[in-house]
Amino acid sequence: MAFKVGLLGLGTVGSGTAEILLNPTQRHPLLREIEIHRVGVRSAKPRSIPLPPEIITTDLESIVTDPAVDIVVEVIGGLEPARSLILKAIAQGKHVVTANKAVIARFGDEIFTAANQAGVYVLLEAAVAGGIPVIEPLKQSLCANRIEALMGIVNGTTNYILSRMQMEGSDFDAVLADAQKLGYAEADPTADVDGLDAADKIAILSSLAFGSRIKLPEVYCEGIRKITAADITYADRLGFVIKLLAIAKRDKTATTDLDRLQVRVHPTLLPKSHPLANVNGVFNAILIQGQPVGQVMFFGPGAGSGPTASAIVADILNIAAILKVGRDAVTHADGTPLLDPLLACSHQEYATIAPIEELSTRFYVRFLANDSPGVIGYLGTCFGEHNVSIESVVQIGLRDQLAEIVVITHDVREGDFRQALAEIATFEAISSIPSVLRVLSSEE
Ligand code: HSE
Repeated sequence: MAFKVGLLGLGTVGSGTAEILLNPTQRHPLLREIEIHRVGVRSAKPRSIPLPPEIITTDLESIVTDPAVDIVVEVIGGLEPARSLILKAIAQGKHVVTANKAVIARFGDEIFTAANQAGVYVLLEAAVAGGIPVIEPLKQSLCANRIEALMGIVNGTTNYILSRMQMEGSDFDAVLADAQKLGYAEADPTADVDGLDAADKIAILSSLAFGSRIKLPEVYCEGIRKITAADITYADRLGFVIKLLAIAKRDKTATTDLDRLQVRVHPTLLPKSHPLANVNGVFNAILIQGQPVGQVMFFGPGAGSGPTASAIVADILNIAAILKVGRDAVTHADGTPLLDPLLACSHQEYATIAPIEELSTRFYVRFLANDSPGVIGYLGTCFGEHNVSIESVVQIGLRDQLAEIVVITHDVREGDFRQALAEIATFEAISSIPSVLRVLSSEE
């Protein structure tokens, strides 16, 4: 008996998926039981994958409604028609495998509610960190743990840009332009460089790690456009590298709601000794802190045809294994569908997410100021009055005839820090405050 796949999309990930499915040799024997039944494409054009032309169609809807299809694999990306096709497939009783983080992060609620009612699985290993297994470990291998925090580099484009800025001492715009020329960054890089792609991914990971749904607009998100070569050099001198981190953790600053979470994406100064500091280029890595396991780190390729297809096909096999032993046909006594609780999404409640101004963080801030007596004393006094404790102050040289002063704070309440900064900005000796970045907290 073959399990029939309806593949929606034959771009980079779809082609990689078809290549694995067409070449089962030396891979898991269950692969031989998977058949590509139909393939949906947006436009008919010559393809390098040896698929019979008669199974390829531009009528995407006919695939999700095809009674013979068991598993719909959605790799067309974008919000629509992907969301509607996923929902239609579910309504037709089909299992779904998707790489679509944007759809899951925004419409996960609607999709998983529908899937649970229909008794089908929606698996998404490929949606976060491409080829790195992290969704299934969170659902299964680490499920005995109380997850305390997860922190990751989950966007390859920005990690590539920051790594090159670090290595070459170049500024953001120059590296972005070159990355676009080389195909490492999209023509419209917004989703990557503004942190939106990473925000989708951390929303999905936190939902799994903490067992609650996440409202994407509540995820604080700051990208890397403002990072300069000067900041990377200062960070380096002070023993840090700058990475775009996606962070989700239980919020220990909360006094009443002990389940409150912090979920955020922002550039972060990481000590060079930190396990994520040496994750360079397009690679991704995710560090998970659980009780009692401790720290577990996942590292690997976060995108690309083969790595993402590896995750897609693993999900297809997971569903095929369930179909093979007939576990998909099991129901509760009242006839409602019974899904494997470790594979299906069962949480219904929304998490409370702490507002960013209530968080306690270390900051790096760079000032340009007149080189006159009392400036550093003023900074110290103003920060002190707002309860901001300074860890270090360095003034290395002049830039454009102005003194460049870099301050690193201890862990401080973000709201207090912002108030101090607003006051400092009005001081006449301060010419500008070109950079404000977060530093990994001493507790993280
Ligand atoms: N655009 C993503 C990245 C890859 O740069 O990591 C797909 O998730």
